[in-house]
Parts: sequence; C-alpha cells; structure tokens
Amino acid sequence: MMVRSAVLLLGLVVSCRAQFAPPTLNISLDEDPEVRWMPLTKVFDVDYLKKAAAEVIDSTVPKWVHHAVTPIVKALEKYVPQPYAGEIRGMASHLGGSISDVIILNFAYEISAFCTSIVAQDKNGHVYHGRNLDYPHPVLRNMTINVNFLKNGKVAYSGTSFAGYVGLWTGQSPNKFTVSGDQRGSEHWWNWWKNVVSAFLFRRSPVSWLVREILEEAENFQDAVMRLSKIPIITGVYYIVGGVRAGEGAVITRDRVGPADIWPLDPVNGGWYRVETNFDHWLPPPAWDHRRDAANKALNATGQDHINMETLYQVLSQFPVCNGGTIYTTIMSAAAPEKYNTLVRPQGCQPK
Ligand SMILES: *[C@@H]1O[C@H](CO)[C@@H](O)[C@H](O)[C@H]1NC(C)=O
Ligand SMILES: *[C@@H]1O[C@H](CO)[C@@H](O)[C@H](O)[C@H]1NC(C)=O
Ligand SMILES: *[C@@H]1O[C@H](CO)[C@@H](O)[C@H](O)[C@H]1NC(C)=O
Repeated sequence: MMVRSAVLLLGLVVSCRAQFAPPTLNISLDEDPEVRWMPLTKVFDVDYLKKAAAEVIDSTVPKWVHHAVTPIVKALEKYVPQPYAGEIRGMASHLGGSISDVIILNFAYEISAFCTSIVAQDKNGHVYHGRNLDYPHPVLRNMTINVNFLKNGKVAYSGTSFAGYVGLWTGQSPNKFTVSGDQRGSEHWWNWWKNVVSAFLFRRSPVSWLVREILEEAENFQDAVMRLSKIPIITGVYYIVGGVRAGEGAVITRDRVGPADIWPLDPVNGGWYRVETNFDHWLPPPAWDHRRDAANKALNATGQDHINMETLYQVLSQFPVCNGGTIYTTIMSAAAPEKYNTLVRPQGCQPK
C-alpha cells in the first residue's frame, strides 16, 4: 500500500513537471565537422542517447525496412555533401553507432513533424516569431538542445534541434532573420527512403539542411525568403520567416522545385499575423484539426496592441495549438537575438 501510494505520488510529481529549458551547446564551425559535435557527449549520457536514437528509428522505420535499406544507405554515404557527411561520421563515432543508422536517424527526423508557426508584428513594427514542434516520439523531449553555431568565437547563428540531428527546423540569424519549418502534407515511412535517394543522387537539400544553410549564408530577410523559396529540396514544406523591420514576415509554401505560394504579413490591411500549421493556408484544414482556428482566435483575442514574446508564448500554450505531441515551444525575434527562448513541454498540453 505504501509502495502503491509512493508510486502514485511519484506519477503525480512527474506529470506536473514544469516546462524546462533544454541544454545549450556551443558548436564551433571552425572545427573539423568530424569533431565539432563532441560537446554532445559532455551534456548527454551516451548510452541513453544511443537507446533513445534506436527508439526513434524503431518507431519510424519498420525493422524489415531498416534491414533492407541499410546497404542502400551505406552505398549512398559517399554522396552526402559536406559538412553533413563529416558531422554524421563524427556523430556515429561519438555515439558509437553505425554511420548508416545516424543517416537513417536524420531522415527519420525529416518526416512526421507536425507543427504550428506564427509570425506577428506589434503596433510599433516589432516582429515576433513563435513555433511549436510536435512529434510522435516522447523521447525527443530528452534529446532537445539549443545550439549556438560559432565562427571565430562569435555566434553566427543558433537553433533548436535534437541530439544526433545535423539539420535545423528552428533557428535565428542574429539581427537578420528567424526561420522555422513545418511539414507540408503527410509523408509516409514507405516514402522516406526515396527522399534519401533524391537527396544524395539528385543533390536536393533535405528541408532542415536548407534552413541551416540559409541561416549561415543569407544576408537579410529578403535574401532568406528568396533562397528558401527557390532552392530545390527533397519534399514540400512550409518555411516561416521573420525579419527585423516592420512588414518582414512571411509564410513560404514550398514544392520540391520552387515556391507554390508566398504569404507575407500585411499589417496595413489587418494582416498583422500569419499562422501556419501543416496545411495550405488558402484551403480549410481537415475537420479533425482545430489548431489553426484556435491560434487565430487566440491571436485575435490578444490583439496587435498586446502581442509580444510573452503573449505569443501564451497563444502557443493553448490547447490544441499545444497538444499531447508538442515537444517544445520556441519564441524568437531577430532584432532581439538575446531573447531567443525554447522551453520543452514534458507532457505536451491537454484540454482544460
Ligand atoms: C526523460 O528523462 C526523464 C528524466 O531523466 C525520465 O524520467 C523520462 O522517463 C524520460 N522520458 C523518456 C520518454 O524517455
Ligand atoms: C558559448 O559561446 C559563447 C560565445 O563565445 C560564450 O559566451 C559562452 O560562454 C559559451 N557557452 C558555453 C557553455 O561554452
Ligand atoms: C480573426 O480576426 C480576423 C480579422 O478581424 C477575422 O477575419 C477572422 O475571422 C478572425 N478569426 C477567428 C478565428 O476568430
């Protein structure tokens, strides 16, 4: 009986665990790709990471597919472009896994990201950008990291990612722009390996690698939007971009080869925010998914007078915008890069 209530009590304590900030890693781009992710092994227990990574792969890719594609992935390894090839090789050696499994892990992360991104502008022209990242793998809550990518000891760009992953779905180029990616349409595990082939043989960028490349290279908001619209990628996606000046905010709807639509902020005509979940904004979302409507309502209730980083976080905390699958929430504003903030949601969110 004692034990029983102790267990119940423990359960209660765990389920009430508050949001927490993930660990932050400094990754130096001046170091060789094969060694630059070494700091991971200081922040994480390597055995735990190995198990967690195996769990993500097992729950995304059926065992027989995993077996069947391993030789294909091995054969394609030589086509992986730098710096990712070196980083993946390094990751495999830091974590003691096989290179093909780290590649498979990276592509497992490329699919099944259900998300909400919001870009909004207040009455003074400040632009805010927030995102929820939803995944069906609870273990990712323990693998979430903030990463500062350093050049010459200074932060070149930052982002939020998962241990073992070389791409970014969320990031900031300080005083230039912020970007997040939301999955477009539903990808299925039986297609994911085609993406691997497409990525390496046709030299198309995985969507999260393009985010990293743009954070590293784009000069400003305009340049980021142009590149995120045009550069070929392996699958459709939504890129949400925020800048530093009034009016600098847009949702880019991507096909593999180019933009399907660009939906900018239009504050003069009442368009002071844009909400993107996982469906084309000009079409109604499926009847079972109420995230878009809930976010629009919450933003309308907040009002342009009161939008800021805190109220945007509150909007992203409302069910079902935040839901059982929500792993983390990031709030950012390129003009105030020091305020970049990610919080992990230990239990996601449940209806009140
Ligand atoms: C994450 O880590 C916490 C604390 O170490 C642990 O209690 C929890 O079970 C882990 N969650 C998963 C899904 O592995
Ligand atoms: C990361 O790098 C920044 C910038 O050089 C520095 O201020 C900070 O102390 C570093 N943090 C860690 C954990 O090493
Ligand atoms: C939010 O406000 C806009 C502009 O007034 C309106 O067109 C839209 O229908 C509102 N959305 C919701 C979900 O209330």
